[in-house]
Amino acid sequence: MQSANRKILLLPGDGIGPEVMAEVSRVIDWMARRRAVRFEVACDDVGGAAFERYGTPLNESTLAKAVDCGCVLFGAVGGPQFANLPYDQRPEAGLLRLREEMGLFANLRPAVCFDAVIDASTLKSEVVKGLDILIVRELTGGVYFGVPRGIFDLGNGARRGLNTHQYTTPEIHQVARTAFELARTRSGRVTSVDKSNVMEAGLLWREEVQTLRDAEYVDITLTHMYADNCAMQLVRDPRQFDVILTDNLFGDMLSDEAAMLTGSLGMLPSASLGAVDISGRRLALYEPIHGSAPDIAGKGVANPAAALLSFAMALRYSFALEEDAHLLEESFKGVLAKGYRTADIMQPGKFEVGTSGLTDRLLDELEANIR
Ligand code: IPM
Ligand code: MG
Repeated sequence: MQSANRKILLLPGDGIGPEVMAEVSRVIDWMARRRAVRFEVACDDVGGAAFERYGTPLNESTLAKAVDCGCVLFGAVGGPQFANLPYDQRPEAGLLRLREEMGLFANLRPAVCFDAVIDASTLKSEVVKGLDILIVRELTGGVYFGVPRGIFDLGNGARRGLNTHQYTTPEIHQVARTAFELARTRSGRVTSVDKSNVMEAGLLWREEVQTLRDAEYVDITLTHMYADNCAMQLVRDPRQFDVILTDNLFGDMLSDEAAMLTGSLGMLPSASLGAVDISGRRLALYEPIHGSAPDIAGKGVANPAAALLSFAMALRYSFALEEDAHLLEESFKGVLAKGYRTADIMQPGKFEVGTSGLTDRLLDELEANIR
């Protein structure tokens, strides 16, 4: 019997976050019943929901719970009603603070093209068929967090907006190490992306990634690419890539682009990982790539796939339950192969289901796969 001391904090957030997270809870319950994989589950508000309840997008007690649990399943944050708040009170600030305070420096964003929905891609199927790339984005440094920052009054009605883009050797090495380790479980190829032709921080990035590779990862094939070229290559021939390693800002943009290639933006999960401490514990947060989608919130039509697949990543990276992660992912592919689709990926001749309808089918498939 496996122990029940695995803790998870659910932070559903705003928009479609709560409804997709409700489906994750159903799968967590199934895992306990049918796989004897038990979790102690806590729940709290984040983002706009937290602002309304606590007056801040991330309450201190919520952050403390997140650190104590070590594993956070995050829904989505944001909505038009919060758009005019100051930056530090906006829903997004809750997410940024979680990343920073939990030290989640490595953001893993897989872009996988599922055969069953290949026609949903805006690119030709021969360009994206079988696509399986992993973007490793630095998540706690660079221009997102650099100081000084702010908007300053210059007098005479003129103002100056300022942000600081910077990286240090340890920041670059820790995320590069994550990318190299992951590449070892894949094809062993890493493309490091920067703008070293324009930025000193980019030149340092390139040099330090190469130095670490030469010192400790000679088995890895490392190439470097400028970010603008990478954006172009991603739509020209995305399958040339395996692991893409890049900084916070370029990673934000390139991961959206890569996700779109798959035609399944609503189905892609992500993991944000911290450092492994001496006891072998590592803080982590898992979230769908999609946002809060306020236009469809509350209608029961949102695709829960990304949230469910984020839970699969949690099983793999936080709890080393590879077999259960694989079971969940394969069962999900089975649901797609049988023709079940939420509205966002609906095609002629397929069966349209809602948010909980898709999970019903997933639970059937899970049952069938453990027999
Ligand atoms: C993402 C999002 C966030 C980011 C926002 C919501 C702050 O776009 O996770 O990619 O820019 O990192
Ligand atoms: Mg983004």
